[in-house]
Amino acid sequence: MGGKALEEVVIVSAVRTPFSRFDSAMAEVASVDLAVTVMREAVARVNVMPEEVDEINYGSCMMAELALQTDIPDRQAALLAGFPAETISVTLDRACCSSLTAVRLGLRALLAGEAEICMAVGADNMPRAPHLAPGLRHGRRLGHVHLLDGLFELGYGAKGFAPFAVDAGEVAVAHGVSREMQDAWALMSQERYARARAAGKYKIGEELVELVIPRRRGAPVHIERDESPRSTSLEALAKLTPIYGSPTVTPGNAPPMSAGAGAILFMTRRQADKRGLTPLAVIRGSVAMATDPREIAVIPALTIRKVLERAGVHLGDIDLIEINEAFAAMPLVSLKILAEGDERLLSALHEKTNVNGGAIAIGHPVGASASRITMHLAYELRRRGGGLGVAAICGGLGQGEAIVLEV
Ligand SMILES: CC(C)(COP(=O)(O)OP(=O)(O)OC[C@H]1O[C@@H](n2cnc3c(N)ncnc32)[C@H](O)[C@@H]1OP(=O)(O)O)[C@@H](O)C(=O)NCCC(=O)NCCS
Repeated sequence: MGGKALEEVVIVSAVRTPFSRFDSAMAEVASVDLAVTVMREAVARVNVMPEEVDEINYGSCMMAELALQTDIPDRQAALLAGFPAETISVTLDRACCSSLTAVRLGLRALLAGEAEICMAVGADNMPRAPHLAPGLRHGRRLGHVHLLDGLFELGYGAKGFAPFAVDAGEVAVAHGVSREMQDAWALMSQERYARARAAGKYKIGEELVELVIPRRRGAPVHIERDESPRSTSLEALAKLTPIYGSPTVTPGNAPPMSAGAGAILFMTRRQADKRGLTPLAVIRGSVAMATDPREIAVIPALTIRKVLERAGVHLGDIDLIEINEAFAAMPLVSLKILAEGDERLLSALHEKTNVNGGAIAIGHPVGASASRITMHLAYELRRRGGGLGVAAICGGLGQGEAIVLEV
Protein backbone atom coordinates (compact mmCIF):
# COMPACT_ATOMS: atom_id res chain seq x y z
CA MET A 1 0.00 0.00 0.00
CA GLY A 2 1.39 3.41 -0.75
CA GLY A 3 1.28 6.42 -2.93
CA LYS A 4 -1.59 8.58 -3.86
CA ALA A 5 -4.62 6.54 -2.85
CA LEU A 6 -3.55 6.54 0.81
CA GLU A 7 -4.05 10.30 0.95
CA GLU A 8 -7.74 9.68 0.65
CA VAL A 9 -8.20 7.89 3.98
CA VAL A 10 -8.66 10.06 7.05
CA ILE A 11 -9.00 9.49 10.78
CA VAL A 12 -12.03 11.38 12.08
CA SER A 13 -12.29 10.23 15.68
CA ALA A 14 -9.96 8.57 18.17
CA VAL A 15 -10.31 7.95 21.87
CA ARG A 16 -8.96 5.74 24.62
CA THR A 17 -9.68 4.89 28.21
CA PRO A 18 -7.15 5.86 30.85
CA PHE A 19 -4.52 3.12 31.17
CA SER A 20 -4.47 1.37 34.55
CA ARG A 21 -2.02 0.35 37.20
CA PHE A 22 -1.62 -3.36 37.86
CA ASP A 23 -3.57 -3.06 41.13
CA SER A 24 -6.46 -0.97 39.85
CA ALA A 25 -10.25 -0.96 40.03
CA MET A 26 -10.01 -1.44 36.26
CA ALA A 27 -8.62 -4.94 36.89
CA GLU A 28 -12.23 -6.01 37.49
CA VAL A 29 -13.54 -4.73 34.16
CA ALA A 30 -13.51 -7.13 31.20
CA SER A 31 -11.44 -5.86 28.28
CA VAL A 32 -14.58 -6.29 26.18
CA ASP A 33 -16.33 -3.70 28.36
CA LEU A 34 -13.39 -1.31 28.10
CA ALA A 35 -13.72 -1.68 24.33
CA VAL A 36 -17.47 -1.00 24.46
CA THR A 37 -16.81 2.36 26.13
CA VAL A 38 -14.37 3.58 23.46
CA MET A 39 -16.33 2.15 20.52
CA ARG A 40 -19.48 4.03 21.59
CA GLU A 41 -17.54 7.21 22.24
CA ALA A 42 -15.62 7.14 18.93
CA VAL A 43 -18.79 7.13 16.81
CA ALA A 44 -20.84 9.42 19.09
CA ARG A 45 -18.23 12.19 18.96
CA VAL A 46 -18.64 12.60 15.20
CA ASN A 47 -22.33 11.68 14.89
CA VAL A 48 -21.66 8.50 12.95
CA MET A 49 -24.41 5.95 13.51
CA PRO A 50 -23.12 2.48 14.50
CA GLU A 51 -24.93 1.01 11.46
CA GLU A 52 -22.84 3.24 9.17
CA VAL A 53 -19.59 1.50 10.16
CA ASP A 54 -18.79 -1.12 7.53
CA GLU A 55 -16.26 -3.17 9.43
CA ILE A 56 -14.55 -3.41 12.77
CA ASN A 57 -11.07 -4.86 13.27
CA TYR A 58 -10.41 -5.62 16.92
CA GLY A 59 -6.90 -6.13 18.26
CA SER A 60 -6.42 -8.02 21.49
CA CYS A 61 -3.75 -10.44 22.65
CA MET A 62 -4.25 -11.37 26.30
CA MET A 63 -5.93 -14.63 25.39
CA ALA A 64 -6.30 -15.85 28.98
CA GLU A 65 -8.29 -12.74 29.90
CA LEU A 66 -10.40 -12.96 26.74
CA ALA A 67 -11.18 -16.59 27.59
CA LEU A 68 -13.13 -15.40 30.65
CA GLN A 69 -15.71 -14.16 28.13
CA THR A 70 -15.37 -17.35 26.01
CA ASP A 71 -14.25 -15.94 22.62
CA ILE A 72 -14.98 -13.57 19.69
CA PRO A 73 -14.51 -10.42 21.81
CA ASP A 74 -14.95 -8.30 18.65
CA ARG A 75 -18.47 -9.59 18.12
CA GLN A 76 -19.43 -9.34 21.78
CA ALA A 77 -18.09 -5.79 22.07
CA ALA A 78 -19.77 -4.68 18.83
CA LEU A 79 -23.18 -5.97 19.89
CA LEU A 80 -22.86 -4.59 23.43
CA ALA A 81 -21.76 -1.20 22.06
CA GLY A 82 -24.94 -0.95 19.98
CA PHE A 83 -23.63 -1.93 16.56
CA PRO A 84 -26.27 -3.79 14.57
CA ALA A 85 -26.24 -7.56 14.16
CA GLU A 86 -25.16 -7.10 10.52
CA THR A 87 -21.84 -5.34 11.31
CA ILE A 88 -18.89 -7.50 10.35
CA SER A 89 -15.91 -7.67 12.68
CA VAL A 90 -12.90 -9.80 13.46
CA THR A 91 -10.53 -10.27 16.40
CA LEU A 92 -6.86 -10.31 15.52
CA ASP A 93 -3.76 -10.99 17.57
CA ARG A 94 -0.49 -9.52 16.38
CA ALA A 95 0.71 -8.99 19.95
CA CYS A 96 1.41 -5.33 20.77
CA CYS A 97 1.05 -4.41 17.08
CA SER A 98 -2.59 -5.54 17.09
CA SER A 99 -4.46 -2.24 17.11
CA LEU A 100 -2.26 -0.83 14.31
CA THR A 101 -2.82 -4.03 12.36
CA ALA A 102 -6.52 -3.32 12.89
CA VAL A 103 -6.03 0.10 11.28
CA ARG A 104 -4.04 -1.39 8.39
CA LEU A 105 -6.67 -4.00 7.59
CA GLY A 106 -9.42 -1.36 7.64
CA LEU A 107 -7.28 0.82 5.40
CA ARG A 108 -7.03 -2.05 2.92
CA ALA A 109 -10.79 -2.44 2.88
CA LEU A 110 -11.24 1.29 2.27
CA LEU A 111 -8.64 1.36 -0.52
CA ALA A 112 -10.13 -1.74 -2.11
CA GLY A 113 -13.53 -0.03 -2.19
CA GLU A 114 -15.04 -2.69 0.08
CA ALA A 115 -15.86 -0.21 2.84
CA GLU A 116 -16.44 3.51 3.38
CA ILE A 117 -16.11 3.67 7.17
CA CYS A 118 -13.98 1.42 9.40
CA MET A 119 -13.20 1.17 13.07
CA ALA A 120 -10.00 -0.17 14.62
CA VAL A 121 -10.15 -1.21 18.26
CA GLY A 122 -7.47 -2.32 20.69
CA ALA A 123 -8.31 -3.66 24.14
CA ASP A 124 -6.58 -5.69 26.81
CA ASN A 125 -6.76 -6.12 30.54
CA MET A 126 -3.50 -7.67 31.71
CA PRO A 127 -4.17 -7.46 35.48
CA ARG A 128 -7.38 -9.44 34.92
CA ALA A 129 -5.66 -12.37 33.15
CA PRO A 130 -6.26 -15.43 35.34
CA HIS A 131 -3.84 -18.19 36.16
CA LEU A 132 -4.45 -21.29 34.08
CA ALA A 133 -5.01 -24.75 35.53
CA PRO A 134 -4.24 -27.14 32.66
CA GLY A 135 -5.22 -30.78 33.05
CA LEU A 136 -8.01 -30.29 35.60
CA ARG A 137 -10.83 -30.97 33.12
CA HIS A 138 -9.88 -34.63 32.91
CA GLY A 139 -9.05 -35.00 36.58
CA ARG A 140 -5.85 -35.37 38.55
CA ARG A 141 -5.33 -38.93 39.76
CA LEU A 142 -2.28 -38.28 41.87
CA GLY A 143 0.26 -35.53 42.38
CA HIS A 144 0.51 -31.74 42.49
CA VAL A 145 -1.70 -29.37 40.50
CA HIS A 146 0.24 -26.64 38.71
CA LEU A 147 -1.05 -23.17 37.91
CA LEU A 148 0.43 -21.31 34.94
CA ASP A 149 0.80 -17.54 34.72
CA GLY A 150 0.86 -16.38 31.10
CA LEU A 151 1.86 -12.89 32.25
CA PHE A 152 5.06 -14.08 33.85
CA GLU A 153 8.13 -13.31 31.74
CA LEU A 154 5.99 -12.62 28.64
CA GLY A 155 8.38 -14.65 26.57
CA TYR A 156 6.61 -17.75 25.33
CA GLY A 157 9.03 -19.75 27.44
CA ALA A 158 6.97 -22.92 27.02
CA LYS A 159 8.10 -23.04 23.39
CA GLY A 160 11.68 -22.16 24.15
CA PHE A 161 11.69 -18.43 23.37
CA ALA A 162 13.58 -16.06 25.68
CA PRO A 163 11.73 -13.41 27.74
CA PHE A 164 11.45 -10.14 25.75
CA ALA A 165 13.27 -8.35 28.54
CA VAL A 166 16.30 -10.61 28.00
CA ASP A 167 16.35 -10.25 24.20
CA ALA A 168 15.76 -6.49 24.33
CA GLY A 169 18.38 -5.93 27.05
CA GLU A 170 21.05 -8.01 25.33
CA VAL A 171 20.45 -6.46 21.91
CA ALA A 172 20.47 -2.98 23.48
CA VAL A 173 23.88 -3.62 25.05
CA ALA A 174 25.15 -4.93 21.70
CA HIS A 175 24.07 -1.59 20.16
CA GLY A 176 25.89 0.38 22.84
CA VAL A 177 22.70 1.29 24.71
CA SER A 178 23.55 0.91 28.40
CA ARG A 179 21.39 0.44 31.49
CA GLU A 180 22.15 4.07 32.42
CA MET A 181 20.85 5.29 29.06
CA GLN A 182 17.68 3.22 29.50
CA ASP A 183 17.13 4.64 32.99
CA ALA A 184 17.66 8.17 31.67
CA TRP A 185 15.06 7.53 28.96
CA ALA A 186 12.65 6.18 31.59
CA LEU A 187 13.07 9.31 33.71
CA MET A 188 12.50 11.47 30.62
CA SER A 189 9.33 9.52 29.80
CA GLN A 190 7.94 10.20 33.28
CA GLU A 191 8.96 13.87 33.24
CA ARG A 192 7.61 14.51 29.74
CA TYR A 193 4.31 12.89 30.70
CA ALA A 194 4.04 15.00 33.86
CA ARG A 195 4.72 18.21 31.91
CA ALA A 196 2.26 17.29 29.16
CA ARG A 197 -0.46 16.42 31.63
CA ALA A 198 0.08 19.65 33.55
CA ALA A 199 -0.30 21.45 30.22
CA GLY A 200 -3.70 19.75 29.71
CA LYS A 201 -2.59 17.41 26.94
CA TYR A 202 -4.14 14.25 28.35
CA LYS A 203 -7.67 15.43 28.67
CA ILE A 204 -11.15 13.97 28.76
CA GLY A 205 -13.02 14.82 25.57
CA GLU A 206 -9.89 14.60 23.43
CA GLU A 207 -7.61 11.56 23.70
CA LEU A 208 -9.35 10.27 26.84
CA VAL A 209 -12.85 9.20 27.81
CA GLU A 210 -13.79 8.89 31.46
CA LEU A 211 -14.34 5.36 32.68
CA VAL A 212 -17.17 4.78 35.15
CA ILE A 213 -16.99 1.47 37.00
CA PRO A 214 -20.19 0.48 38.82
CA ARG A 215 -19.73 -1.17 42.23
CA ARG A 216 -22.02 -3.71 43.81
CA ARG A 217 -22.24 -1.41 46.82
CA GLY A 218 -21.64 2.30 46.99
CA ALA A 219 -20.89 4.92 44.41
CA PRO A 220 -19.27 4.01 41.09
CA VAL A 221 -15.54 4.55 40.63
CA HIS A 222 -14.64 7.29 38.14
CA ILE A 223 -11.28 7.00 36.39
CA GLU A 224 -10.24 10.11 34.50
CA ARG A 225 -6.49 9.78 34.23
CA ASP A 226 -3.73 7.30 33.53
CA GLU A 227 -2.88 5.61 36.79
CA SER A 228 0.76 4.57 36.42
CA PRO A 229 2.81 7.76 35.98
CA ARG A 230 5.06 8.40 38.96
CA SER A 231 7.78 10.76 39.95
CA THR A 232 11.18 9.15 40.16
CA SER A 233 14.90 9.94 39.94
CA LEU A 234 18.00 8.49 38.31
CA GLU A 235 19.18 7.39 41.77
CA ALA A 236 15.93 5.49 42.48
CA LEU A 237 15.95 3.94 39.00
CA ALA A 238 19.57 2.83 39.37
CA LYS A 239 18.70 0.86 42.54
CA LEU A 240 16.14 -1.40 40.80
CA THR A 241 16.99 -5.02 40.08
CA PRO A 242 16.71 -6.25 36.45
CA ILE A 243 13.75 -8.52 35.66
CA TYR A 244 13.62 -12.05 34.26
CA GLY A 245 17.42 -12.27 33.91
CA SER A 246 17.73 -9.25 31.60
CA PRO A 247 21.04 -7.37 31.71
CA THR A 248 19.36 -3.95 31.72
CA VAL A 249 15.54 -4.04 31.92
CA THR A 250 14.07 -3.17 35.33
CA PRO A 251 10.57 -2.27 36.58
CA GLY A 252 11.65 1.37 36.17
CA ASN A 253 12.62 1.29 32.50
CA ALA A 254 9.82 -1.15 31.53
CA PRO A 255 6.14 -0.26 31.29
CA PRO A 256 3.70 -1.56 33.88
CA MET A 257 1.19 -4.19 32.81
CA SER A 258 -2.07 -2.33 32.34
CA ALA A 259 -5.73 -2.43 31.35
CA GLY A 260 -6.98 -0.13 28.62
CA ALA A 261 -8.75 0.24 25.29
CA GLY A 262 -8.64 2.57 22.31
CA ALA A 263 -10.78 3.06 19.21
CA ILE A 264 -9.97 4.84 15.94
CA LEU A 265 -12.66 5.68 13.38
CA PHE A 266 -11.48 6.33 9.83
CA MET A 267 -13.11 6.73 6.47
CA THR A 268 -12.62 7.77 2.90
CA ARG A 269 -12.03 11.48 2.38
CA ARG A 270 -15.23 11.47 0.31
CA GLN A 271 -17.27 10.28 3.30
CA ALA A 272 -15.66 12.79 5.64
CA ASP A 273 -16.36 15.64 3.21
CA LYS A 274 -19.95 14.50 2.73
CA ARG A 275 -20.46 14.60 6.49
CA GLY A 276 -18.66 17.88 6.98
CA LEU A 277 -16.12 16.22 9.29
CA THR A 278 -12.71 17.79 9.79
CA PRO A 279 -10.15 14.97 9.67
CA LEU A 280 -7.96 14.49 12.69
CA ALA A 281 -5.22 13.13 10.39
CA VAL A 282 -4.62 11.72 6.93
CA ILE A 283 -3.14 8.22 6.78
CA ARG A 284 -0.16 8.46 4.45
CA GLY A 285 1.18 4.92 4.81
CA SER A 286 1.06 1.78 6.89
CA VAL A 287 3.27 -1.33 7.05
CA ALA A 288 3.76 -4.56 8.93
CA MET A 289 7.06 -6.41 9.15
CA ALA A 290 8.62 -9.26 11.06
CA THR A 291 12.16 -10.27 11.86
CA ASP A 292 14.16 -12.56 14.16
CA PRO A 293 12.38 -12.66 17.56
CA ARG A 294 15.58 -11.56 19.26
CA GLU A 295 15.57 -8.25 17.30
CA ILE A 296 12.49 -6.94 19.09
CA ALA A 297 14.20 -3.61 19.92
CA VAL A 298 15.32 -3.13 16.30
CA ILE A 299 12.03 -3.69 14.48
CA PRO A 300 10.58 -0.18 15.15
CA ALA A 301 13.52 1.26 13.16
CA LEU A 302 12.97 -1.19 10.31
CA THR A 303 9.24 -0.43 10.11
CA ILE A 304 9.85 3.33 10.24
CA ARG A 305 12.29 3.12 7.34
CA LYS A 306 9.91 1.02 5.30
CA VAL A 307 6.77 3.02 5.97
CA LEU A 308 8.55 6.30 5.16
CA GLU A 309 9.78 4.83 1.90
CA ARG A 310 6.28 3.66 1.01
CA ALA A 311 4.77 7.02 1.87
CA GLY A 312 7.50 8.82 -0.09
CA VAL A 313 8.56 10.82 2.97
CA HIS A 314 12.12 11.48 4.21
CA LEU A 315 13.03 11.06 7.88
CA GLY A 316 14.09 14.71 7.87
CA ASP A 317 10.53 15.77 6.97
CA ILE A 318 9.07 14.03 10.03
CA ASP A 319 8.01 16.43 12.80
CA LEU A 320 7.07 13.91 15.49
CA ILE A 321 7.82 10.26 16.21
CA GLU A 322 6.10 7.84 18.55
CA ILE A 323 7.92 4.59 19.34
CA ASN A 324 6.21 2.40 21.87
CA GLU A 325 8.27 2.00 25.01
CA ALA A 326 7.82 -1.75 25.32
CA PHE A 327 11.04 -1.05 27.20
CA ALA A 328 13.28 2.04 27.05
CA ALA A 329 15.53 -0.13 24.88
CA MET A 330 13.11 0.07 21.92
CA PRO A 331 13.21 3.82 21.19
CA LEU A 332 16.90 4.03 22.15
CA VAL A 333 18.07 1.21 19.88
CA SER A 334 15.72 2.13 17.04
CA LEU A 335 16.64 5.83 17.02
CA LYS A 336 20.32 4.91 17.06
CA ILE A 337 19.80 2.75 13.99
CA LEU A 338 17.84 5.49 12.22
CA ALA A 339 20.56 8.07 13.00
CA GLU A 340 23.22 5.90 11.30
CA GLY A 341 26.04 7.23 13.48
CA ASP A 342 25.13 10.93 13.04
CA GLU A 343 25.15 12.25 16.65
CA ARG A 344 23.38 15.51 15.79
CA LEU A 345 20.62 13.65 13.99
CA LEU A 346 20.34 11.27 16.95
CA SER A 347 19.79 14.07 19.43
CA ALA A 348 17.29 15.73 17.05
CA LEU A 349 15.40 12.42 16.84
CA HIS A 350 15.40 12.13 20.65
CA GLU A 351 13.84 15.60 20.84
CA LYS A 352 10.94 14.69 18.57
CA THR A 353 10.24 11.17 19.89
CA ASN A 354 7.58 10.51 22.54
CA VAL A 355 7.45 14.21 23.30
CA ASN A 356 4.71 13.76 25.91
CA GLY A 357 6.05 10.59 27.50
CA GLY A 358 5.42 6.98 26.61
CA ALA A 359 4.37 3.58 27.87
CA ILE A 360 6.95 3.55 30.68
CA ALA A 361 4.93 6.33 32.32
CA ILE A 362 1.48 5.64 30.89
CA GLY A 363 1.33 1.83 30.92
CA HIS A 364 1.16 -0.78 28.19
CA PRO A 365 -2.11 -2.73 27.85
CA VAL A 366 -0.55 -4.64 24.97
CA GLY A 367 -3.33 -4.84 22.33
CA ALA A 368 -4.41 -1.23 22.95
CA SER A 369 -1.02 0.50 22.91
CA ALA A 370 -0.67 0.92 19.15
CA SER A 371 -3.99 2.78 19.06
CA ARG A 372 -2.69 5.07 21.82
CA ILE A 373 0.53 6.06 20.06
CA THR A 374 -1.37 6.60 16.79
CA MET A 375 -4.04 8.87 18.26
CA HIS A 376 -1.54 10.70 20.45
CA LEU A 377 0.57 11.45 17.38
CA ALA A 378 -2.48 12.87 15.60
CA TYR A 379 -3.57 15.02 18.55
CA GLU A 380 -0.06 16.36 19.17
CA LEU A 381 0.48 17.20 15.50
CA ARG A 382 -2.84 19.08 15.57
CA ARG A 383 -1.82 21.01 18.70
CA ARG A 384 1.34 22.07 16.88
CA GLY A 385 -0.58 23.31 13.88
CA GLY A 386 0.02 20.24 11.72
CA GLY A 387 2.89 18.31 10.20
CA LEU A 388 4.05 14.81 9.48
CA GLY A 389 4.46 12.07 12.05
CA VAL A 390 5.31 8.40 12.27
CA ALA A 391 4.31 5.89 14.94
CA ALA A 392 5.94 2.48 15.32
CA ILE A 393 5.52 -0.43 17.67
CA CYS A 394 7.15 -3.80 18.22
CA GLY A 395 5.21 -6.96 19.01
CA GLY A 396 5.96 -10.40 20.39
CA LEU A 397 8.56 -12.56 18.67
CA GLY A 398 9.99 -9.92 16.35
CA GLN A 399 6.92 -8.31 14.79
CA GLY A 400 6.52 -4.64 13.92
CA GLU A 401 3.98 -2.19 12.58
CA ALA A 402 4.18 1.49 11.65
CA ILE A 403 1.97 4.26 10.31
CA VAL A 404 2.59 7.71 8.80
CA LEU A 405 0.10 10.46 9.58
CA GLU A 406 -0.23 13.95 8.17
CA VAL A 407 -2.21 16.69 9.91
C1 LIG B 1 8.40 -4.94 35.44
C2 LIG B 1 7.35 -5.78 36.14
C3 LIG B 1 7.90 -7.19 36.40
C4 LIG B 1 7.08 -5.10 37.45
O1 LIG B 1 6.02 -5.74 38.10
P1 LIG B 1 5.68 -5.38 39.61
O2 LIG B 1 6.67 -6.02 40.51
O3 LIG B 1 4.24 -5.63 39.84
O4 LIG B 1 5.93 -3.79 39.57
P2 LIG B 1 6.01 -2.71 40.70
O5 LIG B 1 5.29 -1.52 40.21
O6 LIG B 1 5.57 -3.29 42.03
O7 LIG B 1 7.55 -2.37 40.73
C5 LIG B 1 8.52 -3.19 41.39
C6 LIG B 1 9.34 -2.30 42.31
O8 LIG B 1 10.02 -1.32 41.51
C7 LIG B 1 9.70 -0.02 41.99
N1 LIG B 1 9.63 0.90 40.86
C8 LIG B 1 8.95 0.72 39.71
N2 LIG B 1 9.11 1.79 38.91
C9 LIG B 1 9.92 2.65 39.56
C10 LIG B 1 10.44 3.91 39.25
N3 LIG B 1 10.18 4.53 38.09
N4 LIG B 1 11.25 4.50 40.15
C11 LIG B 1 11.53 3.92 41.33
N5 LIG B 1 11.04 2.71 41.68
C12 LIG B 1 10.25 2.08 40.81
C13 LIG B 1 8.38 -0.17 42.68
O9 LIG B 1 8.16 0.84 43.63
C14 LIG B 1 8.51 -1.52 43.32
O10 LIG B 1 9.27 -1.37 44.48
P3 LIG B 1 8.90 -2.24 45.81
O11 LIG B 1 9.12 -3.68 45.41
O12 LIG B 1 9.89 -1.73 46.81
O13 LIG B 1 7.48 -1.93 46.12
C15 LIG B 1 6.07 -5.90 35.27
O14 LIG B 1 5.39 -4.68 35.24
C16 LIG B 1 6.45 -6.30 33.87
O15 LIG B 1 6.74 -7.47 33.60
N6 LIG B 1 6.46 -5.31 32.94
C17 LIG B 1 6.91 -5.50 31.59
C18 LIG B 1 5.83 -6.04 30.72
C19 LIG B 1 6.40 -6.25 29.38
O16 LIG B 1 7.26 -7.12 29.20
N7 LIG B 1 6.00 -5.42 28.43
C20 LIG B 1 6.70 -5.25 27.18
C21 LIG B 1 6.57 -6.34 26.21
S1 LIG B 1 4.92 -6.66 25.77
